[in-house]
Amino acid sequence: MSESVQETAKFIVVANRLPVDRIVNDDSTVDWRSSPGGLVTALEPVMQARGGAWIGWHGAADEQVEPFHHDGYDVIPVALSELEVERYYEGFSNATLWPLYHNCIAEPVFHREWWDAYRRVNRRFAQAAADRAEHGATVWVQDYQLQLVPQLLREMRPDLRIGFFLHIPFPPIELFNRLPWRNGIINGLLGADLVGFQTPGHGSNFLRLARRQPGIEGARGRVHLSDGRMVTAKAFPISIDAAGMAELANSPKVQAEARKLRADLGDPSTILFGVDRLDYSKGLRNRVRAVGELFDSGELNPEEVVYLQLATPSRERVEEYRILRDDIDLLVGRINSKSASLARSAVNYRYTSVPRETLTGMYQIADVMLVTPLLDGMNLVAKEYLACRSRSDSALVLSEFAGAALELKQAYMVNPYDIDGMKATILRAVHDSPRVKARKMRAMRRQVFEHDIDLWADSFLNQLEGE
Ligand code: ADP
Ligand code: G6P
Repeated sequence: MSESVQETAKFIVVANRLPVDRIVNDDSTVDWRSSPGGLVTALEPVMQARGGAWIGWHGAADEQVEPFHHDGYDVIPVALSELEVERYYEGFSNATLWPLYHNCIAEPVFHREWWDAYRRVNRRFAQAAADRAEHGATVWVQDYQLQLVPQLLREMRPDLRIGFFLHIPFPPIELFNRLPWRNGIINGLLGADLVGFQTPGHGSNFLRLARRQPGIEGARGRVHLSDGRMVTAKAFPISIDAAGMAELANSPKVQAEARKLRADLGDPSTILFGVDRLDYSKGLRNRVRAVGELFDSGELNPEEVVYLQLATPSRERVEEYRILRDDIDLLVGRINSKSASLARSAVNYRYTSVPRETLTGMYQIADVMLVTPLLDGMNLVAKEYLACRSRSDSALVLSEFAGAALELKQAYMVNPYDIDGMKATILRAVHDSPRVKARKMRAMRRQVFEHDIDLWADSFLNQLEGE
């Protein structure tokens, strides 16, 4: 494959995020760092396998960056000004759409100038795709930040096959209809030939709304538009590169790192583990409370059990995220200040992201994995744990409100709003017999290895190309 950037591509992914973030250090030197979040985790192996171009924002404001070749595909940066970061990214995407689409766990904020910025930036992404796409190319637009791109791109380039995938939930009609610009969003998405969702329920929510648009008729997962076009909406549950992660987890380097991690944690008999972006949708407040109460009551003994929790810094200038960070600091501090052991803390909390090898090592030593979002489109952490942790005496505690719960039915399922219920289930996950745990792990591991990221991308793209 050529190492130089191609003028055009026949396969293009358009996402707000690029796989790497440009970081300008205090001494003005520049570093590139892996971008946070499940979208990048999922799409990186797809692009490495298929090649093409990935159009997205490089994470810094007011900086024009030239396209470059990376890991077998072209990276095409789109610039955002400081004001656009504030209004399009932090504002409309993450203080309006994110909470609205996550069932208003936090109150969505509506500002007309944020919507104007969203439209302007979506047009820029659409133009970037229109400029790069070969005649008849496939363009795959990703996620809630870019819902207007399908329609804008179709107006610019009717020759293209356009797919759209929403990585987060699509809300019920009653919540979506609060959005003052709801018709703009629905029409934006209807510019695609195929609109993909994490679960069938999200797809039906969208179809119900689409059918209410004037001149649109629909049945059985499709709508017919007045211009004769047809749009299909369907669930494609996203996944991970399970074999790749398992191989990394089994490498001697990661095995050695895992042994060291366990020793660093004081060689406890049981390690509970959580790893999330620090986001209110992840249910961290309730999770930390539940585990804290178990330590308090002595049902978990801090001499034997450690709870390791990593939180990736995320959207730090958005108010809800700042409040959440302080809340978690406080909660963890309280638990640890009560814990009797001088040698180690009951909760080992780190507000940082870690390299892939270290994370894989952590999955390896996690006896009980805690994945308890209040709502999540899919949740890849649950699947990563299953791919990396090959020991059968392991347990996955999973929220019934994660998309992953539809596939991983054998998990220790919890309602993350029910703290007492969560406590009881965590104890069960710690104490159940190895035989029970082994059976659950076997079934769930099979599901993840058989439904990996290649299957996800192939299913979506084959359907798109057949539309
Ligand atoms: P979301 O996309 O909402 O962040 P997912 O669970 O689907 O949630 O994906 C999160 C991704 O980010 C996973 O691939 C996970 O491994 C990674 N990740 C989360 N926290 C960290 C961390 N502290 N360090 C490294 N990677 C992390
Ligand atoms: C979720 C979203 C992605 C987003 C990621 C990280 O996975 O679905 O679109 O990229 O979170 O969030 P960020 O705001 O840092 O891009």
